Amino acid sequence: MTITDPDARTAATMSGAEITDEALAAWVREIAELTQPDAIHVCDGSQEEYDRLTDELVEAGTFIRLDESRRPRSFLARSEPSDVARVESRTFICSEKEVDAGPTNNWVDPAQMRAELAEVFAGSMRGRTMYVVPFSMGPVGGPISRVGVELTDSPYVVVSMRIMTRMGAEALAQVGRGADWVPAVHSVGMPLVDDDGLRREDVPWPCNDTKYIVHYPETREIWSYGSGYGGNALLGKKAYALRIASVLGRDEGWLAEHMLVLKITGPDGRVYHLAAAFPSACGKTNLAMLRPTIPGWKVETIGDDIAWMRPGEDGRLYAINPEAGFFGVAPGTGEMTNPTAVAALEHDVVFTNVALTDDGDVWWEGLTDEVPAHLTDWQGQAWTPDSGRPAAHPNSRFTVRADQAPSIAPEWEDLGGVPLDVILFGGRRATNVPLVAESFDWEHGVFIGATVSSEQTAAAEGAVGALRRDPFAMLPFCGYNMADYWGHWLAMGERLGSHAPRIFQVNWFRKGADGSYLWPGFGDNARVLEWALRRVNGEVDAVEAPTGRLPRPQDLNLEGLELTDEQLEALFAVDRASWLAEADLTEEYFAQFGDRLPAEMTRQLDQLRARLG
Ligand code: GDP
Ligand code: PGA
Ligand code: MN
Ligand code: MN
Repeated sequence: MTITDPDARTAATMSGAEITDEALAAWVREIAELTQPDAIHVCDGSQEEYDRLTDELVEAGTFIRLDESRRPRSFLARSEPSDVARVESRTFICSEKEVDAGPTNNWVDPAQMRAELAEVFAGSMRGRTMYVVPFSMGPVGGPISRVGVELTDSPYVVVSMRIMTRMGAEALAQVGRGADWVPAVHSVGMPLVDDDGLRREDVPWPCNDTKYIVHYPETREIWSYGSGYGGNALLGKKAYALRIASVLGRDEGWLAEHMLVLKITGPDGRVYHLAAAFPSACGKTNLAMLRPTIPGWKVETIGDDIAWMRPGEDGRLYAINPEAGFFGVAPGTGEMTNPTAVAALEHDVVFTNVALTDDGDVWWEGLTDEVPAHLTDWQGQAWTPDSGRPAAHPNSRFTVRADQAPSIAPEWEDLGGVPLDVILFGGRRATNVPLVAESFDWEHGVFIGATVSSEQTAAAEGAVGALRRDPFAMLPFCGYNMADYWGHWLAMGERLGSHAPRIFQVNWFRKGADGSYLWPGFGDNARVLEWALRRVNGEVDAVEAPTGRLPRPQDLNLEGLELTDEQLEALFAVDRASWLAEADLTEEYFAQFGDRLPAEMTRQLDQLRARLG
């Protein structure tokens, strides 16, 4: 089959699965006319297709095939040094009205943005293949699941989407059956044929210095240009499952959240489910795969980054993981910290921006205590321990199917999701925020979520370590006005009533005077989860502090930990002066939302101040 443009500028050959849906066929044609690819391939999601694409990526120099005996069917990609993280400054929520995007999002008038994008996308796929990537977020056909179609000129994106989503023929069939689907267009922005018809050589990681990550919340469309990096280019993930889905959730009465979901079983066999929102690179993947250091407890993984949650028939809040894979931070992932992830990464992995060992395997800071004497770093340069720079990029990532994690819960694909007992909000705070505090009630929990600050990480462009507000860990991902989003959470609490999960604040990252972490973290975080569940069960009392309820010293299981009394005290210290200063900053922060700010948030702030005295 050939799609022929009347003025003969595009004549793209077509291959792959057959599109039967008229609307989808028309849209594919329209985008092909705009972007002018040489060929169009409709992905069926098969192993053969994956193998062919990875072969082509190796051929093109985008992928390095790792040693088959050490890391079977696995690859290393090295991005352009400028294309290593999400670009929040170039991420736009183009709602009809600016106030609907709110003060925390970049906004451009949608008509103006459409005009700009029409220009940058014109001819942007020349000389390349445009892949049609049908995908389902959530198990195909599930009542909470949703489909989308990404058009992309990046085979790296196609391969990654097959790992991260349910991609291919089944999702395409859903579109054919009339399911609502979200259109998403992606181009790396580096055509191989210029305006005069001259061809140029491709590069291993094509991208463009100009980037756009654009969302139209009313029409539910996504357009991404200029980047190949996961968070910018795998459009099922942040763009759809968070930014667009948060808008769907607002309109339809559910929640799309930047949360891991885990199942935890106690020594008595009781099963609980917990969701936790931490900003990017603040511990979600690690907590989702936690191996408890306290006996009798077991954690299994449902999801590590995104949760879609809605009230079930019994009135409780149910969560699904809309993804099918993990796009995890590599540095810091090792046998001591996250042995589950290490086991998940034995085969069939795409690594991006980690280091290459001399025997064809991968390495990153924290994988092993012993540092290899010689490596090739993430930029392809020779590296030794005294090179004075990290071998792997701080935001280097692994992409792997979820069911490769030995911790995956049998119910991780349950169509209706799992009922939540506990929700955690956290961030990376060297000071002020205690290890754990229970909220007084749902409204106070929403206030805690709304006022989270966290030190910035390498997951997005910007100064690492700078403290910023990241409400609900959704700052870069909320597709509408953040104040309305808080209102939506408050309304959800009213709907859930006594069935609502209990909300806690946690902080694994508090530091002592010497600058080192006070809390061992990782597997020992199970001690905090245990306390939270004992609170849920009404087994233990708590100490009322101005910022929430803290554990009584005897209730937190510290057996086997080498923690001095001073360290323990420092972990839970609530310094009134610092918290009053934070309250002033919160007042300033809230002011930008004007009359959209729910009155309840102001009430919570007043109460916090009153408790602080
Ligand atoms: P995510 O991006 O939110 O999924 O965060 P990850 O789980 O990938 O963790 C990001 C970084 O934080 C990694 O380098 C981890 O090793 C580190 N990290 C995760 N959990 C803990 C913890 O409990 N304590 C400390 N100190 N570091 C942690
Ligand atoms: P993360 O996911 O939360 O695991 O870091 C990617 C991101 O948020 O950029
Ligand atoms: Mn994330
Ligand atoms: Mn993660």
